[in-house]
Amino acid sequence: MEELKISARSKKMIQPAIVKYNGLIREIEKTGKKVYFLNLGQPDIATPPAFMEAVRQIDDDVLMYVDPKGIIPLRQSIVGYFKNYDLDYDIDEILVTMGGSEAIWYTFLTLCDEGDEIICPDPVYSIYREVAKATGVKLVPVETYAEEGFELPAKEVIEKCITDKTRAFILNTPGNPTGRVYTKREMDDISQLALQYDLFIISDEVYRDFIYDGEEFLSFAAREDVAEKVILVESASKRFSACGARVGFLATKNKEVYEGLLKMAQTRLSISYVDQVGAVELFKLEQDYLRAQLDEYENRRDTICEELRKIDGVVLETPKGAFHLLVKLPIDDAEDFIQFMLNDFTLDGETVLVTPGADFYFNEELSKNMVRISYVLKQEDLKRAAFLLRKGLEAYKSK
Ligand SMILES: Cc1ncc(COP(=O)(O)O)c(C=O)c1O
Repeated sequence: MEELKISARSKKMIQPAIVKYNGLIREIEKTGKKVYFLNLGQPDIATPPAFMEAVRQIDDDVLMYVDPKGIIPLRQSIVGYFKNYDLDYDIDEILVTMGGSEAIWYTFLTLCDEGDEIICPDPVYSIYREVAKATGVKLVPVETYAEEGFELPAKEVIEKCITDKTRAFILNTPGNPTGRVYTKREMDDISQLALQYDLFIISDEVYRDFIYDGEEFLSFAAREDVAEKVILVESASKRFSACGARVGFLATKNKEVYEGLLKMAQTRLSISYVDQVGAVELFKLEQDYLRAQLDEYENRRDTICEELRKIDGVVLETPKGAFHLLVKLPIDDAEDFIQFMLNDFTLDGETVLVTPGADFYFNEELSKNMVRISYVLKQEDLKRAAFLLRKGLEAYKSK
């Protein structure tokens, strides 16, 4: 008898570090040890009550499948949200997905056949790597460096990565894990290459509302030169602190791409009606709501950077956006240090969890002593977490 086999692609995939510690954490928490979670992009801020209020108003007798594109009131609400950023989309250019995560899958599946390539920066959001493995897409990394604030290299360097298999760039601005906000120079270069070589630009802008120091946000979606080439990946998760709502969406002006994305979406018939009803209200929230979130996260960013700089040997650049930063620690093996913090370290019954840089890097050499810190906790918790990190590093070095 032949042995039962599962796909090679599933064997190639790994558990991203952002979820792999979940089991261990549950075990540790059972012991009464408190863990400060700086490892997940899961904000601690209350989801706006408007979400639940709208859900409570649902009085349908039957929860039915709804339009695979997403319910019209939600797409209208998203179009309205975009207007605040001078982005002009029609409801038929919006496709609601189960989080930005599903949007990434559909984009890869729609733009690429097996073996096709997508160029991305290194480090990159780890889920792109797993989706690439699952969809048979090859991600081609362009190295960027912490010392240079993760700026994209010159156009000529990026151009060298383009082959006859290249279909697209994928960029995330403001960036996870780097906090980088791309400048006009970087966006001009990518746009020119996309035009010259006929490539798509997948622009993941789920952190659009988190840009600090009063910097202007530039969206690929606002550029007329590449209007037909841009596919926006979006989400309610971060900006509205609604990760569990599982509402994201895609936006594109390219009709053929939209049709392709929709065919993918039609295979899952519909996404949750209940979540969509709540999300209608989120995208209608006043700009004041988002400005308050921005102030809160800017303060959190300042606090975590200040506290981390107090630790000997820690190297970091102040991020310009999103709520993550990559930090170099004075150690040789970030994964080993993280295990130590979870299993062996405790101070007054507390410890802290961060994500190993290896989760985001193609270049292992660059990632060894790097960790990603997500500043998703209140300022006093961030202070305590940074203190625990300092004490943990001292204990680790003297072990
Ligand atoms: C850059 C980026 N894109 C997309 C997502 C997907 O988020 P969700 O599926 O919750 O919308 C995340 C979540 O962390 C992210 O950081």
